[in-house]
Amino acid sequence: MHHQSHEHGMAIPLTQEDRARRAFVSSLRSHVLQQMSAGLRQHFDSTVAEENTKRGKRLETPEDIHRSLLDAFPFKAYSSVRTSAQEMVFDVVSDAVDRNRDSLNDRPTVDSCSGTLTLDPHLELPKNVTGFDVHLAPGAYHAEYQPEDLCAGAVYDNSIDVFAFGQFGKELNDIGSTLANYIRLAYSDFNPQQILDCGCTVGHNTLPWATAFPDAEVTAIDVAAPVLRYGHARAQSLGIPVHFKQMDASDMAFDDEQFDVVFSSMFLHELPPKDLAAYLREAYRVLKPGGVLWQMELPPMNAMPVYENFYMNWDTYYNNEPYYGTFRKQNYRELLSNAGFDEDNFIEATLPRYTFVGDAAFKSALTGSNTFDSLTGRMDPKGTRWYGFGAWKE
Ligand SMILES: C[S@@+](CC[C@H](N)C(=O)[O-])C[C@H]1O[C@@H](n2cnc3c(N)ncnc32)[C@H](O)[C@@H]1O
Repeated sequence: MHHQSHEHGMAIPLTQEDRARRAFVSSLRSHVLQQMSAGLRQHFDSTVAEENTKRGKRLETPEDIHRSLLDAFPFKAYSSVRTSAQEMVFDVVSDAVDRNRDSLNDRPTVDSCSGTLTLDPHLELPKNVTGFDVHLAPGAYHAEYQPEDLCAGAVYDNSIDVFAFGQFGKELNDIGSTLANYIRLAYSDFNPQQILDCGCTVGHNTLPWATAFPDAEVTAIDVAAPVLRYGHARAQSLGIPVHFKQMDASDMAFDDEQFDVVFSSMFLHELPPKDLAAYLREAYRVLKPGGVLWQMELPPMNAMPVYENFYMNWDTYYNNEPYYGTFRKQNYRELLSNAGFDEDNFIEATLPRYTFVGDAAFKSALTGSNTFDSLTGRMDPKGTRWYGFGAWKE
């Protein structure tokens, strides 16, 4: 079940015990997200929904469903196992990272690749990063315990592998591969030269852009130094040139009209609404006319059935993702038009996973309609579909 996929120069040696603990937590995550969530749904359909209908009470909103389940054992069990599994993800990888702290921080960065790292020690870190442990990761993305510390990046890289139980692909880059190859295949005349990834963390989903568009220059920004240090060292070791820069995406230091593509993945839902609006205005400003904003995100509430919306909102209440629910409530098209994009230039798609299905099947799936279902935005071995939305700039 456990997929060890760290074939790069920042990989750390794992003991038999590390592997066993990781395999256990991966299985537990998979179990709670599939079997236990199916049990919860069954309980809701067969008991809670029925009882409420009998009492003449309609469960119309995700909040109604949440309230109706608060005292139900299957919901309590699901929530407590899922919370414990989330905490265990970081617990089991942190031991190995701590043991390898010196070797990680002292590891020389490969210099035969032309990627760069530019940090800004004066950058003020936003509260959405420093104010709480984002998705229960101790120290989130930014904590440093010694000068030049990159271990928060190592924890992220190792933990995402356990967290996703194989669903992000062997190189943990399926989201970036899917979204980059969508642009490459669906708009084959488009030839981007300058690509920007915002909120890149360690660059898992940045690197596929450099692979899909080998002639382009790829830049990736994040506010947190440790993940950028790690991401730079990792990319260099893989021989994939990326310019990593420490910068706030809601206040970028780039010139107007510098990029053909502005990309992000799993980023917008971690921004407070004010910063999100500022980021989208910045994205519009730094895009060239004819360029595209393109981001992988949670599917919007208005596209999903009410139960799925309740299910996806779980993280808002129990996983330190306070902006999740409010983000999904918005109309994405309107969000982009408020930032300057023409409503008619809005694009969205639900896509099969590129690294799982391969080039040919992916290409043929692009002609299909844009369908939302219970696999959209969920991690499921049955065939997750990633949701992307964005807009072309005129
Ligand atoms: C969930 S992670 C993104 C994951 C990454 N894009 C990927 O696909 O692997 C969110 C990232 O956004 C960064 N971040 C949060 N607020 C930011 C801001 N205002 N500007 C730039 N980066 C920010 C965090 O430091 C964190 O690394």
